Amino acid sequence: CGDRIALTPPMGWNSWNCFADQVSADKVKRAAQAMVKSGLIDHGWTYINIDDFWQNHRDPKDLALHGKFRNDAGYIQPNGRFPDMKGLADDIHQMGLKAGLYSSPGPWTCGGCAGSFGYEKQDAESYAKWGFDYLKYDWCSYGGVINGMADNDPNKVPSLSYKGGNDLETAIKPYRLMSDYLRSQQRDIVFSLCQYGMSDVWKWGGSIGGTSWRTTNDITDTWASVKGIALVQDKAAGYSKPGNWNDPDMLVLGVVGWGNPHPTKLRPDEQYLHFSLWCMFSAPLLIGCDMEKLDDFTLSLLTNDEVIALDQDALGKQATCVQTIGDLRIYVKELEDGSRAVGFCNFGLEKAALNYNDFKKLGIAGNQKVRDLWRQKTLATINTQSDKIAVNVPAHGVLLYKFTPVKK
Ligand code: DGJ
Repeated sequence: CGDRIALTPPMGWNSWNCFADQVSADKVKRAAQAMVKSGLIDHGWTYINIDDFWQNHRDPKDLALHGKFRNDAGYIQPNGRFPDMKGLADDIHQMGLKAGLYSSPGPWTCGGCAGSFGYEKQDAESYAKWGFDYLKYDWCSYGGVINGMADNDPNKVPSLSYKGGNDLETAIKPYRLMSDYLRSQQRDIVFSLCQYGMSDVWKWGGSIGGTSWRTTNDITDTWASVKGIALVQDKAAGYSKPGNWNDPDMLVLGVVGWGNPHPTKLRPDEQYLHFSLWCMFSAPLLIGCDMEKLDDFTLSLLTNDEVIALDQDALGKQATCVQTIGDLRIYVKELEDGSRAVGFCNFGLEKAALNYNDFKKLGIAGNQKVRDLWRQKTLATINTQSDKIAVNVPAHGVLLYKFTPVKK
């Protein structure tokens, strides 16, 4: 049953960009309730994912407070803020949602909590037994394993290392191991590889059972971060397909802050561009904000079904940039129904204004219906040989159009 899952990119929420090390079962449950109450559940948003810090931390004080990393049989013990993992997953399921969690192939997570190294079998069994549907597996201290520093004794703590594998097989090994254990459970578990694009993960992630993989480093809520990540996605685009997704990291919309809550620093036009591009990239869409503080603007971004439909298109083809005109980058995504989505993305500080007719470059010919997806409005039917369209894009903004061939 496990080899045909996540045929469209997973959509949901993850605790990290909002709560970081302050996450608790109560906050996760409240995020799930807000997913339902806000109506987002009706737009495809499904997973409620716990990131780092549900496990016990290696800090002796934390350990004294919460107890052991694992029981005598090696099964992981959640920390005191997560008293009942199965109960939490059950509650999430009862709301009509799915549940996700997080670990690392090294002995420690990036935050210094217990990772899965040496206990992969027990951990996969626990996740399935508790009823989780999604695992994010974060490289973190696995560099220490490679360098011979791994030790599960908290008194002999290797420094956390982001270093990559010495060779490809070494980098792949821990992901293959966990993937095999996950696939041997009687449960479909989405397997999200998180190793920041090292070792060209897009080339092998699918072959070892990964459903998505991070292509880049951690996102922050700045224009520089979103732009930097967006500009390097094309290299992996050819590897995106149903069940195998490139992951440019989570969304930085709404109230984020990694434990220091504040509204995203992205300006409204930057938020349109961020969400448009992630949909064009067929990215897993994981909201990273405080779900109880969703404002109307953020909600309007996250509930535009025509934009979300690009991300969820069954063909699973990732958009690439096919033309640049100054700072204007034009992205094209082929869609299952023969239409093409076109993102006129302005990465510059000046507004872009031009009359556009280079449709050949976009792979668009004949008569075409043009629909503005953000405004959900059909603009015109054009003859691509003779007509031009007005393209006016604000600084750091986007026009997101769908071109559908019209039969004569
Ligand atoms: C690094 C990852 O890239 C983040 O998304 C997050 O999971 C943190 N680790 C948690 O420590």
